[in-house]
Amino acid sequence: KKILFVASECTPFVKTGGLADVIGSLPQSLNQLPTIETSVILPYYEPVMKPWMNKLEELFTIPIEVGWRKHSFTLYQLVHKNVRYYFIKNHYYFSRDEIYGYEDDGERFIFFSQAVSEALTWIDFKPDIVHAHDWQTGLVMAFLKILYPKSDYNTVFTIHNLKYQGAVLKKDFPDLFQISREHIGGMEWNGHINCMKAGIFHADKITTVSPTYAEEIKTAYFGEGLAPLLKGRQRDLYGILNGIDINEYNPAKDPFLYRNYTNERERKKENKIFLQKKLGLPENGNVPMYILISRLVEQKGLHLLQAIIDEFLQEDVQFVLLGTGDYLFEDFFYHAAERNKDKMVCFLGFEEKLAREMYAASDFFVMPSKFEPCGLTQMIALHYKVVPIVRETGGLQDSVLPFNEYTLEGTGFSFANYNAHDLLHVLRYSLSVYEDEHKWNSLLRNVETCDFSWEASAKKYDALYDEIMISEGT
Ligand code: GLC
Repeated sequence: KKILFVASECTPFVKTGGLADVIGSLPQSLNQLPTIETSVILPYYEPVMKPWMNKLEELFTIPIEVGWRKHSFTLYQLVHKNVRYYFIKNHYYFSRDEIYGYEDDGERFIFFSQAVSEALTWIDFKPDIVHAHDWQTGLVMAFLKILYPKSDYNTVFTIHNLKYQGAVLKKDFPDLFQISREHIGGMEWNGHINCMKAGIFHADKITTVSPTYAEEIKTAYFGEGLAPLLKGRQRDLYGILNGIDINEYNPAKDPFLYRNYTNERERKKENKIFLQKKLGLPENGNVPMYILISRLVEQKGLHLLQAIIDEFLQEDVQFVLLGTGDYLFEDFFYHAAERNKDKMVCFLGFEEKLAREMYAASDFFVMPSKFEPCGLTQMIALHYKVVPIVRETGGLQDSVLPFNEYTLEGTGFSFANYNAHDLLHVLRYSLSVYEDEHKWNSLLRNVETCDFSWEASAKKYDALYDEIMISEGT
């Protein structure tokens, strides 16, 4: 069977978050299964695509109308690591410096969604299933059902983060798109056209990126206003845990590391001392090092950390933070590091090399998210033998088994309530386990057996695709 992935970002071409990692690695794993061929279609963002220009093959230029605007797009293709990628190029919408963050983002991805629907009739690759991801592609699900009903594609829509929905003022929409009134109900939401809603409403099957998040989003607290719709569609809603690219995130081969390792703890200590030297922290291979690598946004539970960081830093620990995001968090953590110079370093930015060096050097990975559809960094941490400390929500709950000091089972630490002192308590508890050689060794042995490769999840997607095709009789 042939599957076409539709998304707005994908490594190694363009990445702003975890979505790009998934789109960059799942199709490759699917293609290793004997019965599947997966291709991916993406926007062509001019600034980031420059390094790939020579490898691209130009296919067609296709006219389309977005409302009264007469546009066209050029379709390109490229084969990379066994996957065929298609790109939709339009200078007006996708030549800008940033990937997202423009006032007309809604319009840009409405255009992209329409272009994808149109491109399907031009490309050689004829998918059995069109599998779209997140709000930017939600309207593909609607357009295929409404505007191209004869084409009869089966569709899957995956929610990577329900918080971002792509709402466009409804009054602007007829200007962009003519859809008859009977179809508006499946997209309308509080005076807006909501692209996420359109995806959920129209897709044959809906998935999200962990079993726990699939349950959570049916409740008002996590449902971001769409819980009733998701509940209504619960028979078609599945939670499949993401994996990570284990060739990419492999401490034994990672070219960014000072010292490569598998389970050798002495080598990890060398990495720790290397990083301490680099960041100007006191050099000591035995001091427990905590790290946080994240977009600095409310979702990530940073309010909890803010409230207790000074108290926690009274312990004999080191804390390294890497990320960018909301100004208030950046400002706060910058000053927290200033106040605690010998214990904390805060690096406001993103640098892949530093991220890898932090995984290699550290003992604990802190991720107290308020909600977390899946989360990939805790899985990466586990592959680098770093013990995650997480809040029990979404994919964090599904990927980290809390350590039990009596049975010695478990791969990390977790707490349930969104409460700063519960976080402080679990941070202190992790320290007590670190100091107890027997418990710490048991915990690390469990961590060493973790495997978050895509294989298991790719099979689940495969089974889901089969189910759709059988029920559709194709
Ligand atoms: C989004 C979610 C994150 C998930 C990622 C990939 O970024 O916030 O939890 O891991 O998508 O599915």
